[in-house]
Amino acid sequence: MKKIFAVILSISLIMGLAACAGKAEVPSKKDVQKEVEKEYDMDFKLDSKDIANDESEAEWVFISKDGTLEVTVTWSADDPDEFDFDEEYIGTDVIEPVPTVVPDPSIDTQTNGFKIGVSMPTKDLQRWNQDGDYIASQLEALGYEVDLQYAANDVATQVAQIENMINSGCDVLIIAAIESSSLNTTLEEAEALNITVIAYDRLLMESDTVDYYITFDNYTLGQMQGDYIADALELYKNPGPFYIEITAGDPGDNNAFLFYQGAMDALSYYIDNGQLVVVSGQTDFEDVATDAWKTDSAQTRAEQIIDLYYSDGTQIDAWLCSNDSTALGVENALAANYTGPYPIITGQDCDIANIKNMLDGKQAMSMFKDTRNLAYQAVVMADEILSGQVVEVNDTVTYDNGSIVVPTYLCYPVVVDINNYYEILIDSGYYTEYDLGL
Ligand code: BGC
Repeated sequence: MKKIFAVILSISLIMGLAACAGKAEVPSKKDVQKEVEKEYDMDFKLDSKDIANDESEAEWVFISKDGTLEVTVTWSADDPDEFDFDEEYIGTDVIEPVPTVVPDPSIDTQTNGFKIGVSMPTKDLQRWNQDGDYIASQLEALGYEVDLQYAANDVATQVAQIENMINSGCDVLIIAAIESSSLNTTLEEAEALNITVIAYDRLLMESDTVDYYITFDNYTLGQMQGDYIADALELYKNPGPFYIEITAGDPGDNNAFLFYQGAMDALSYYIDNGQLVVVSGQTDFEDVATDAWKTDSAQTRAEQIIDLYYSDGTQIDAWLCSNDSTALGVENALAANYTGPYPIITGQDCDIANIKNMLDGKQAMSMFKDTRNLAYQAVVMADEILSGQVVEVNDTVTYDNGSIVVPTYLCYPVVVDINNYYEILIDSGYYTEYDLGL
């Protein structure tokens, strides 16, 4: 729906214009944004601006920070006290899986002089290396300058790296945070310089300066892990009891709780009715979380659990692990300290070491998050922002970071197990047979 109307400029702005001798000056982006925000009582971001060479006319397009409204403002020096506002609601509920494609470098985009900062948490995990490489190479193929940094899982290092990106003139920041709430002051510095911030994979919490979020549907991913265990144990017909343990992710990572919550929502019915028994009794997130998603920490905790609760020969039927690095820790602990058959172990990321374990019967499944797609969406989004196009999102209601609802582009994860790994991982070109030791 479109609505077009005119607004008389505020007194201060009129005075500002009147102060200029002779010809009226084009109002500043800041002043125009103020008018738009006053009119709609919402926060906006500049999407594009177009000023005539002789400065007699100007047009700005603003998008509301929740991604639902686009306002085009036009101004003419013939009637400098008036803005024309043209508003259009653009929020969309359409959620569709993303195709695997790479940007076409021959597409003519205005990349001249723009620089994009890409801040990844660590090089320790296979996935972040892939994400970083995909994003940087695709942006570079489009002609952008890229500053890609890895922060060694250290918050102070990530803050310093992002500050450096801000000071060295980056126009867009793509950030996968180590701790979801530790970058607020840094983000304010970015906001003050009109730098657009995209939260990548992990939502940046408690900050109203996050512009967009790109992620996989994390809660659903957890549910799919829980459902996989329920199906594999055929809980719909087997009364059990089956014995299960739980290993979750880093408490500083907002995703970790969503994965856990999704999985627990899928399993709690069976835990409550006794079909599933958590022998250690450790079910609360704080008890099952793993600092920094470390394989070693997950292994140490798993060794303690095996020693304390399963050394009498009790069989472990399932072990819910939120991702592959923690699953690997649990698998190492089982290899060294447990003689029963491997439990149904879940994971996520389809790391090479874990898929090899899957082929050896040591891990039942992993959630495949095609980082090519996530990276591609980040590249598309940065390009849309910098070339003044409307930024495409497919969820404008779910991702409340405690301060604002962040407009989000959601991608969808896929279950991978022994039955479909070849098709999903090798046929799609994600891995070669050689990568997996086949
Ligand atoms: C990501 C997972 C990853 C984990 C550890 C999470 O935020 O979504 O894919 O396994 O961090 O790096």
